[in-house]
Amino acid sequence: MASKPKVLINQKLPDPIVAYLKEHCDCTIWEGGGLLPRPQLLEMIKDFDGLYVNKESIDAELLERAPRLRAVSTSSVGYNHFNIEDMRARGVLGTHTPHVLDDTVADLAFALILSSARRVAELDSYVKQGKWQKGAIKEDEWFGMDVHHATLGIIGMGRIGEAIAKRASRGFDMNVLYYNRSRKPEAEEQYGVQYRALEDLLKESDFIVLMTPLTPQTVHYIRKEHFEMMKPTAFFINTSRGQTVDEQAMIEALQNGTIRGAGLDVFEQEPVSPDNPLLKLPNVVTLPHIGSATTKTRYDMAMLAAQNLVGALTGGKAYVVQEL
Ligand code: DGY
Repeated sequence: MASKPKVLINQKLPDPIVAYLKEHCDCTIWEGGGLLPRPQLLEMIKDFDGLYVNKESIDAELLERAPRLRAVSTSSVGYNHFNIEDMRARGVLGTHTPHVLDDTVADLAFALILSSARRVAELDSYVKQGKWQKGAIKEDEWFGMDVHHATLGIIGMGRIGEAIAKRASRGFDMNVLYYNRSRKPEAEEQYGVQYRALEDLLKESDFIVLMTPLTPQTVHYIRKEHFEMMKPTAFFINTSRGQTVDEQAMIEALQNGTIRGAGLDVFEQEPVSPDNPLLKLPNVVTLPHIGSATTKTRYDMAMLAAQNLVGALTGGKAYVVQEL
């Protein structure tokens, strides 16, 4: 019988997932808490055929030390931490976890839309600070914007974009516009969404949700000129990756009233620095990159990542990242 592939898992995983991995692989699991620190990973990787990660750079530095490595599985749909060129050059497969998180991330995008428009975070701290007094909730200070029947612009109409469009059109009677590299006739038919050129979408939308994946081509995809095209009443929501936006330009747009507000799950630098001006702006709702962070979805992602790793190493089914 052929020996099992040797795999390194960079974090603790739920018991059923460990049991599954052990059935198919000879597993080494980092039990030290958190994620296996990079220096130890670089030392250990030479002995392994497969690697399970989350947010670890897979680049020449690591691959040079990994002569046996054949597959890296990330427990995330985004794989901007994979250096595709380096992996391709060494014949290392990369896999990711599409589908299982679509609805969960779409829910969070909606949480940010609603929180920004109805000022949920600001008003929550207002109430908790004991500031609520009779007659104090006045229009000029505290009223928000309607989400229902407003125009939503989705940039990046992949699976998550479609899940957002479904919520918007069916649940909130929104007029939904989208911009994408290619037209999505099925989504147009199913959810009544309308295609727009990027500029037109920015000009017409009350809420703009960025869902573009981060690739070398989409770094600072949304810049100063794009914020200037948005309505002064617009809210900008980012649930993709922080680097897809020129953060300095966004800060300026929020500070000087070019746009009304933002809801952000992601930042150029994560964890975000406590000195980041975005954290001082009352018109910005911030979250610590929790788009997929529900118990069930994170479990499903971890299981799929484990299945991908086994599949990639044994010639079975695996969600190999598109570029490989
Ligand atoms: C992903 O899977 O890429 C998400 O950003 C994780 O929350």
